[in-house]
Amino acid sequence: MSHLRHLVSSGRLFHLSKVPRVNTAVCCHVSQNRPFGTTDRSMTVMPAWVIDKYGSRDALRFTRNANFPVINYPNEVIVRVHSAGLNPLDVRIRDGYGAASLSMKRDPLNIKSGSEFPLILGRDVSGVIMECGLDVKYFKEWDEVWAAIPPWKQGSLAEFVVVSANEVSHKPKSMSHTEAAAVPYVASTAWSALVNTGGLSKDNCAKKRILIIGGSGGVGTFAIQMLKAWGAHVTVTCSQNAELFDLILDNVGGDTERWALTLLKPWCGAKFVTLVTPFLENIDMLGIADGMVQNAATVATKVLKHLTKGVHYRWGFFAPSGPALDEIKEMVDAGQIRSVVEDTFGFSEVPQAFERMEKGHARGKTVVQIRK
Ligand SMILES: NC(=O)c1ccc[n+]([C@@H]2O[C@H](COP(=O)([O-])OP(=O)(O)OC[C@H]3O[C@@H](n4cnc5c(N)ncnc54)[C@H](OP(=O)(O)O)[C@@H]3O)[C@@H](O)[C@H]2O)c1
Repeated sequence: MSHLRHLVSSGRLFHLSKVPRVNTAVCCHVSQNRPFGTTDRSMTVMPAWVIDKYGSRDALRFTRNANFPVINYPNEVIVRVHSAGLNPLDVRIRDGYGAASLSMKRDPLNIKSGSEFPLILGRDVSGVIMECGLDVKYFKEWDEVWAAIPPWKQGSLAEFVVVSANEVSHKPKSMSHTEAAAVPYVASTAWSALVNTGGLSKDNCAKKRILIIGGSGGVGTFAIQMLKAWGAHVTVTCSQNAELFDLILDNVGGDTERWALTLLKPWCGAKFVTLVTPFLENIDMLGIADGMVQNAATVATKVLKHLTKGVHYRWGFFAPSGPALDEIKEMVDAGQIRSVVEDTFGFSEVPQAFERMEKGHARGKTVVQIRK
């Protein structure tokens, strides 16, 4: 194991390097110290909602024979899903959004062309760990956890899902699984945009004025609560007077850029962070190489244009992060952040849950209860 790079962060031991594939069935025999084998070896299939091709509502299919997830890397865990949260991204992925870049991420060498199907959607999970990879130290079987699953991985609309231990966090004790499944994806996105890209933290927010455009949606609702808990002055709808802001989080896109950047304080390090970018669309339309060139040209042009006016322009992206969810868990359990679940559906009602998502204008999240 000496070739593994170890990183101790937030009390976790992460193994970042990939090692030869370790099948869970093999783990049962090689581990002397850990009681492996919680997964029945005869369990090779599970119930799940899948898509076999990109398309609209008809694309969703229920099956009892989806492949049971397998631990491929020693830092992965298998989670038994209690609740799965849906995001606008699930509807868009079902429709084919991001297919080119997500396929490349899943299968960089294009060995298994078209092999992303059957694809399981669902980006949020709250559930219980059923099995841990050999290098997982921070979690153990039966821990209650929550996670945001990256869009290139199989999702949570299934009885089980495999995730990296780096992406998982212990679920807040004060939330049910249903409430918890409404949080991780929007929370990780808001964290990535505001903390990683925007440079905000609980220690520097007190005197900051933040404008959130599109504050009633999933990301906005979470971002408002987090920033308020950190002491920032948060404005959600654009005021008509001449107030200037330290940071703007844009959840809407479109015309927003034309007017919103003028609301930033110039020459003070103020930032405009938009979550609505053409990043994946450019790659879908132009292919990987030309799409990336187009992305670089677009963002560089905008960054330079706004830099000359004294403000910073940035694209923000979802980033899975167990340590970020650890901090969010503390805020949830301290009563500073609550989950906003608008609609709850049963496992047999996934098409209806997607229909609800397609209507938009949700004031909270849509959650599917996989296990009651
Ligand atoms: N870059 C990334 O990695 C990343 C990650 C996650 C999300 N996103 C994107 O970030 C955005 C926010 O995500 P979300 O989960 O919060 O979505 P959401 O729940 O659908 O919320 C969207 C918000 O935007 C508002 N809105 C939509 N269209 C509008 C318009 N034409 N004019 C004014 N307001 C409008 C909505 O208000 P109403 O409800 O009143 O319409 C709502 O407040 C989405 O576009 C999503 O695709 C990007």
